[in-house]
Amino acid sequence: EPHTHRRVMARSLRPLHLLLVLLLCVLGCSHAGPGKAVCRVVRLTADCSHLSLEEVPADLPANITALDVSHNRLRKLPPVVLGRYPQLQLLQAGYNSIQALEADLCRMLPLLRKLRVQHNVIHLLKEANLVHCSGLTELNLASNRLKLLGDPFLPLKSLVSLDVSANGLSSARLGTQPQMGGLRELSLSGNKMSTLQKDDFSCLCNSSVQVLRLGSLPLKNLEPGCLKPLEGLRELVLDGTKLGPNLTDQLCQELKGSAIDRLSLRDVHLTSVLHTTFMGLADTNITAVDLSRNEMSSMANGSLRWLRTLKLLSMEENNFRQLTREMFVGLDSLRSLVLRNALAKSRSWYAVIEDYAFSPLRCLESLFLDRTTFRGLTAQTFSGLVSLQYLNLSWSKFDLKIVTNESFASLSNSPLRTLNLTETGITRLADGAFASLGNLSTLLLGYNFISQNLSGSEFRGLSRIQKIHLSFNNQKIRLTSWSFQHVPTLRTLMLRRALTGTLDLKPSPFQPLQELSVLDLSNNNIANINSDLLSGLHNLRVLYLQHNNLARIWKSANPGGPLLFLRGLENLTVLELDYNGFDEIPAAGLQGLRKLQELSLGGNMLDFLREGIFSDMVSLRSLNLQKNLITSVQKSVFQPALANLSVLHMERNPFDCTCDSILWFAEWLNGTDASVPQRDSYVCNTPSAYFNKTISQFEPLSCRDTTPFQALYVFTSTTVLIVMATALVFHFQGWRIQFYWSVLVSRTLGFREVDRGEERFQYDAYVIHAQKDRRWVERHLLSLEDKQLRFCLEDRDFVPGRTRLECIVDMMRQSRKIVFVVTETLLNDPWCTQYKAHHAIQQVIEESRDSVVLVFLEDVPDHRLVRALLLRRGMLRSRCLLNWPPQRERRPAFQQSLWVALGSSNRIQ
Ligand SMILES: *[C@@H]1O[C@H](CO)[C@@H](O)[C@H](O)[C@H]1NC(C)=O
Ligand SMILES: *[C@@H]1O[C@H](CO)[C@@H](O)[C@H](O)[C@H]1NC(C)=O
Ligand SMILES: *[C@@H]1O[C@H](CO)[C@@H](O)[C@H](O)[C@H]1NC(C)=O
Ligand SMILES: *[C@@H]1O[C@H](CO)[C@@H](O)[C@H](O)[C@H]1NC(C)=O
Ligand SMILES: *[C@@H]1O[C@H](CO)[C@@H](O)[C@H](O)[C@H]1NC(C)=O
Ligand SMILES: *[C@@H]1O[C@H](CO)[C@@H](O)[C@H](O)[C@H]1NC(C)=O
Ligand SMILES: *[C@@H]1O[C@H](CO)[C@@H](O)[C@H](O)[C@H]1NC(C)=O
Ligand SMILES: *[C@@H]1O[C@H](CO)[C@@H](O)[C@H](O)[C@H]1NC(C)=O
Repeated sequence: EPHTHRRVMARSLRPLHLLLVLLLCVLGCSHAGPGKAVCRVVRLTADCSHLSLEEVPADLPANITALDVSHNRLRKLPPVVLGRYPQLQLLQAGYNSIQALEADLCRMLPLLRKLRVQHNVIHLLKEANLVHCSGLTELNLASNRLKLLGDPFLPLKSLVSLDVSANGLSSARLGTQPQMGGLRELSLSGNKMSTLQKDDFSCLCNSSVQVLRLGSLPLKNLEPGCLKPLEGLRELVLDGTKLGPNLTDQLCQELKGSAIDRLSLRDVHLTSVLHTTFMGLADTNITAVDLSRNEMSSMANGSLRWLRTLKLLSMEENNFRQLTREMFVGLDSLRSLVLRNALAKSRSWYAVIEDYAFSPLRCLESLFLDRTTFRGLTAQTFSGLVSLQYLNLSWSKFDLKIVTNESFASLSNSPLRTLNLTETGITRLADGAFASLGNLSTLLLGYNFISQNLSGSEFRGLSRIQKIHLSFNNQKIRLTSWSFQHVPTLRTLMLRRALTGTLDLKPSPFQPLQELSVLDLSNNNIANINSDLLSGLHNLRVLYLQHNNLARIWKSANPGGPLLFLRGLENLTVLELDYNGFDEIPAAGLQGLRKLQELSLGGNMLDFLREGIFSDMVSLRSLNLQKNLITSVQKSVFQPALANLSVLHMERNPFDCTCDSILWFAEWLNGTDASVPQRDSYVCNTPSAYFNKTISQFEPLSCRDTTPFQALYVFTSTTVLIVMATALVFHFQGWRIQFYWSVLVSRTLGFREVDRGEERFQYDAYVIHAQKDRRWVERHLLSLEDKQLRFCLEDRDFVPGRTRLECIVDMMRQSRKIVFVVTETLLNDPWCTQYKAHHAIQQVIEESRDSVVLVFLEDVPDHRLVRALLLRRGMLRSRCLLNWPPQRERRPAFQQSLWVALGSSNRIQ
């Protein structure tokens, strides 16, 4: 009870509490000024971005090493405030309105290494501003309004990366004397310089700039030798700078003999490549060139032959009308060629890939022809690609409706491992379609329109295949028992949303696939299977069966019992069975899955789960039971599954938030280390007190409190029951109890309480009765004379000759007791009532003897008794008042009572 009391108190206090907290917060916030104390501090990193701050917060932990105040309204970075955080190594202050960098900033932050002030309005910058910044390794000044005075970067002796892009700089010259010896990355993109002068980079002559970004510049002019000072240059990015063919040509001349390794010329208006364009690169060891997005429509024959060392060439998104035999001549080292969307599109004609176009590329390993439209494959399209391992033709249009054994014949000499034919409009696979690709390990055929019975011969010759992807084929593929007979090496088979027809096949189509490790059969509306579907797939690790119609096969009502189709899949680690309409799981349905780590049963109709279904899941890490009909989460069912879990999804079930159903789960949720996303969606449905509340609001204490109440309840209800039972027993069987009690008493005390001096009595009782009741007296009283009782009856025992009156007086004297056999007749007998009774009473009073016993043969009201016999029931001891029971079985008890009454003492107690 004290518990309840306290809880009630707490409940009523709660709103007050909240209000108080709110008030404090409001007060606190208004004091602290906008945004303060809302920075997110994680370990030693403070994130104060996007808070509309106008000042740098001064109340952060002093030991932070990283501070992000970007995306605010700061106008300056006051050294005094920032000086409170002397451990700062990283300061992000981009996207503000900072106007200047104060000289003391670096002095107050001696450990500062990275300073990012991009997208501000910093204007004048001179040496004094950065004079203490010799420790900086990264300085980002992009998108300001910089005007450089003198040698502002001269003190930055440790600088590795400098970004001054998008500042409106009209010259690339950053200083007048050699400086920034450690600089490796410099970005000058998006400025206004139209000319790169000869000595622009001479101040960097002693540095080791490796990466230079000169994108989006209005370059018109490259003075000879302008890149000479950057001897270590390895990567040059000019994306978006409209060089055109002439400047490109010149640029390559400038790079002649340099250490350049990667050159990016995306979107530089290089509409055509001349024979000489890349000549300057011949004298380099360049490995990667990016020529994407140049609207290039043609390329002079052999114009790439200068790039003998090139390994990666990207020409995405161009407009070539054809790829000719001479185009790639000389690319002897090329490993990867990206031609994604590189051919021109037109309604009226298709670009052409000439026969043998790729034949010079003897080292080519990867060819990307995805999202490309061209006329079609011929017997020689890919001839000569003797090193090709990867070919991507996905999302391309090249009229490949039916794949025949001719289609990829040109690859027969290639060691092709991966062929990506995703979304290429294929409608049918002919016999031996891939027979020439004996090395193929991955065949991707998803998102096509394949519609056929797979007889098995389609995959003939794929002797090393490991993965076949047939998912998303509009559900027109029909499997047969022999579909995969030629590909026993298969490890991954994806058939999501691909199948039609039945899988109730014997033998199972998957029976040859002893190596199979991943099988996806999801989204196929599969309803009919047999228990052998997956038998023998000992290596199966991942099985997707979601979005099918398998509910029936697990029903106990299924003819022949539930199908245990997962039996023997002991290596299974991932099993998805969502959205199958399951409303029950047979006891052995998930048995033996000791290695299962992920089980997903979401979106079914599971309510009651049998005990023991999860008992084998000792490895389970992730369990998904969301959107079912689960009401109760019992320890006995769920404990094995939840024991080692790291992720649980059980939201959106109609939980019954009673102690019985949910207490254990609520406590588990509260205490678990596992991740339980969407905790707000664990909502109670019943009882009404918890309706629409989350499980976390369930009060476990309420269950503990019921214990005393329960005891009280049990106690009171038992008491009431006992009382009721006793009352009933007494009502119906009380006479019996009295009977046994009197027997017991008379047994222990002896039959007679003999009064002293009673020897004078000749009779035990003088019987007064109406004449009419004589028969009753003879039958029921005189029978007691056998038990050594002697009655005095007027008719029988009166001595003849004496007056009746004398006899009565005398006999009464000689009897220990006087028994009235009370009936209405007796009460109406004047002789009896007026004389006998009177005398008897007199005797009682005179001799102080308690000697009267009334035997009622009928129910007589008390007032009649008083009037007739001058006696009240209350005047006599209760054992002297006897009622003749009509029920035959009670008569022995009556006789016993009578016997006791007659034997009892006459003394008044
Ligand atoms: C940083 O300072 C805070 C208090 O300002 C302290 O709680 C924390 O332990 C400190 N962390 C380290 C690593 O010194
Ligand atoms: C050039 O760099 C070297 C070492 O990298 C250094 O010794 C020399 O002083 C630097 N020269 C100038 C002018 O900074
Ligand atoms: C490119 O150079 C050629 C000759 O060197 C010249 O005729 C042509 O006009 C130049 N094109 C541009 C756009 O400057
Ligand atoms: C290119 O590499 C070769 C051999 O690795 C080397 O001898 C040559 O000097 C390099 N050329 C340039 C310009 O770095
Ligand atoms: C195959 O192509 C599809 C579509 O372009 C792409 O998503 C997938 O990553 C590719 N796979 C491989 C192995 O190339
Ligand atoms: C599970 O996989 C292992 C390794 O592939 C294999 O040796 C073992 O036989 C498999 N287990 C069963 C029960 O087949
Ligand atoms: C949750 O756990 C905490 C700490 O173990 C405990 O103090 C709290 O009472 C629990 N709350 C519920 C609702 O079980
Ligand atoms: C349940 O609670 C949510 C918010 O907690 C409320 O949006 C929604 O309307 C409630 N639903 C019912 C049926 O009361």
